[in-house]
Amino acid sequence: MATSRGEFSSRLGFILAAAGSAVGLGNIWGFPTQTATNGGAAFVLVYLVLAFCLAYPAFMAELVIGRYGQANAVTSMQKMSRKTWQKQFAFIVGFGGVICAGLILSFYGIIAGWMMSYAIEPAAELLGMRGVATWVVSQGDIRNILFAALFMFFTIFIIRKGVEQGIEKWSKRLMPVLIVLLLMLILYVITLDGAIDGLRAYLNPDLSRVLEPDLLISALGQAFFSLSLGTSVMVIYGSYIAKKENLVSLGAQVTLIDVTIAFMAGLLIIPAMYVAQYQGVEIFAADGSLISGPTMVFDVLPALFNSMGSIGLFVAFAFFVLMSIAALTSSISMLEGPVSYAVERHNIERNKATTAIGLLIFAMSALIIFNIEFMLDFIAMIATEYGQPIIAMLCCVFVGWIFNRSDLLEEIKHGNEDVESSWFWKIWPWYTKFVCPVAILMVFLHSL
Ligand code: PFF
Repeated sequence: MATSRGEFSSRLGFILAAAGSAVGLGNIWGFPTQTATNGGAAFVLVYLVLAFCLAYPAFMAELVIGRYGQANAVTSMQKMSRKTWQKQFAFIVGFGGVICAGLILSFYGIIAGWMMSYAIEPAAELLGMRGVATWVVSQGDIRNILFAALFMFFTIFIIRKGVEQGIEKWSKRLMPVLIVLLLMLILYVITLDGAIDGLRAYLNPDLSRVLEPDLLISALGQAFFSLSLGTSVMVIYGSYIAKKENLVSLGAQVTLIDVTIAFMAGLLIIPAMYVAQYQGVEIFAADGSLISGPTMVFDVLPALFNSMGSIGLFVAFAFFVLMSIAALTSSISMLEGPVSYAVERHNIERNKATTAIGLLIFAMSALIIFNIEFMLDFIAMIATEYGQPIIAMLCCVFVGWIFNRSDLLEEIKHGNEDVESSWFWKIWPWYTKFVCPVAILMVFLHSL
């Protein structure tokens, strides 16, 4: 066992770090595109309900596991177990989460690398480096490898510095920049011709779609991905929260920030698409739906930026820097999961563990890059559509069925003396025990 563990130095430190993990490409890219393809505001509505009613309780379960155990996911859950089978089960769930985090980072790092390369393009253009500008946005293995490596380098750099000097310090620096950039971009795009049509499409709910199974599944998947659940990441972040803090309100604040930023990203992306249409860019696919996925981020939006003249270079730069920052504060959490496991369970020195695991995950990214057609979607599907919901569900089962109820209350009471008489305590334990696992399982089975 490592002798001293890190801890967030303040409540703000935790909020920004956990919000940094939560707010990522999933919010700024995933949420607006899902909204666009799932009936606009109807999706937003369902998402809000599911985020607070299902993802938040599951998120709380992961935070409680970590803060109680004061250790990585496996050790923490084993501390909650009394019987041998429970300890084995703890290992499977905790280690599964660690693997899931590593798998997600292996494909997320490639996409984040593209965000960085698209940020360099307008900068190179401004500096008159035409050749560089063209090369960084041309698809190619070398370009992909280079930028995935650069992104992994930044991730490793921060995680090597530990909880306070790495995760907390950089989240405190980067999250405000992210929010300011997002606000500036929204304010600018909203003033352009065509933006109001986009706002209308975004905020006008097609209520007939609210109960469509596909919409429910997409919204729940999005909420789980966004709160980084089922990856051991929130367990380890929970383990760095001081005992004097109120977990219930911290968890709620992070959920609120996550949902708000996703909503704000929609206010940027959907109007931007309609502005692009106004400029003559095609924004609807052949089947009449709004273009989403990579085409939206790497073709439609850049076409819009191009049509803006020289100011477009600055807007493009700001947009892709925003994406890169969002990705980086998420990727550091994904690396922290496996690193804390290696440090605490195998007594490996932090710097060594970080570099070795970072390189291993990068090797996986390289494998994906050389087989990109088949592997990128496949790994993303395994990790996010299977791994995350199953492990998040098992974490709820752990807290609801295995963890002793009086110990659970004791843990929640730290920093929240009156919790026993609160609404939270009346609803949440029962909710985590029955409602969350069943709902997650139902949605998961349906998606199969
Ligand atoms: N929450 C991040 C996003 O919305 O982009 C993605 C993520 C981060 C998933 C950390 C999993 C994880 F462990």
